[in-house]
Amino acid sequence: MVCSSAHANIALIKYWGKRDSDLFLPTKSSLSISLDCLQTTTKITFSNEPFDTVILNNKRVTGQANKIVRFLDTFRSLYKIDARYIIETHNNFPTAAGLASSASGFAALAKGLNKRHKLDLSKKELSILARRGSGSACRSIDSGFVLWHKGNKPDGSDSYAQKLFDSSHWPELQVLVAIVETKEKSISSRNAMQQTVATSQNYKKWVTKSETRITSMIDAIERRDFFALGELAECDAFEMHRCMQESTPATNYWTPKTKKIVALVQELRKRGIRCYCTIDAGPNVKIITLKSHVHEIRKSPLLCYTLAGN
Ligand code: PMV
Repeated sequence: MVCSSAHANIALIKYWGKRDSDLFLPTKSSLSISLDCLQTTTKITFSNEPFDTVILNNKRVTGQANKIVRFLDTFRSLYKIDARYIIETHNNFPTAAGLASSASGFAALAKGLNKRHKLDLSKKELSILARRGSGSACRSIDSGFVLWHKGNKPDGSDSYAQKLFDSSHWPELQVLVAIVETKEKSISSRNAMQQTVATSQNYKKWVTKSETRITSMIDAIERRDFFALGELAECDAFEMHRCMQESTPATNYWTPKTKKIVALVQELRKRGIRCYCTIDAGPNVKIITLKSHVHEIRKSPLLCYTLAGN
């Protein structure tokens, strides 16, 4: 048996849309920070059965079409391996509620398979492998501030994530997760992305703008400029959600409580509290802040049920 783990990550500059859905190749680069408190732990054992068994958060996942089995099939075909596994995986945070459980999940699985078969894959190779489970998983192989290069090659060999700065570069920076809902999201990011790419009027404009934000974001992180980082991250996320909301059929992950939290964060900011929002494929709001402001933010009754991110 081998054990592996990986942290969730939250994109400061988002990934939304694929140029190749089979290989999980994105239309643009993205940049994330790891959430070191949100972790997936995975145990891998060889199975004697002719099928894989997947146990997610102590519950057996059935159906051969599940995403984990599909990923194992990809792995077996890429590395010419004919093994079946018992995969036991556990998240210490809500699964599939926009908290990037698939990112840490597939990253932990890629690391575990590498260990199990003693493949000695490099971080770049692991990132490329994890990407085949879920795009954002390629950013969870490493921790800290990570850049996923979109790459240009049709085979995806240049589409991988690379660490830019360690978390210790900016220990004051914090991410709090305001949990609006813990139940699974109703529309998968995979389908929602396709709809946005195909039908949103402003999607291409967002891709171009968002791509240019990467350089400014790297600069903001390098200089530890919280204001610049927050403005860029919030703007990028909100524009991405606008594209989803105008697509056909529309995807709206925001609930009334999501809106209330966003308004509250903007209100707190007016009162001089350093905080910005970012939101992924779910209703939960991630609040980007500084350590010295966490106490003030937590005082708000709306936000008392939060998790510290990193
Ligand atoms: O990797 P997926 O399919 O779960 O897509 C994640 C997309 C966002 O979380 C919304 C943005 C991102 O860059 O992580």
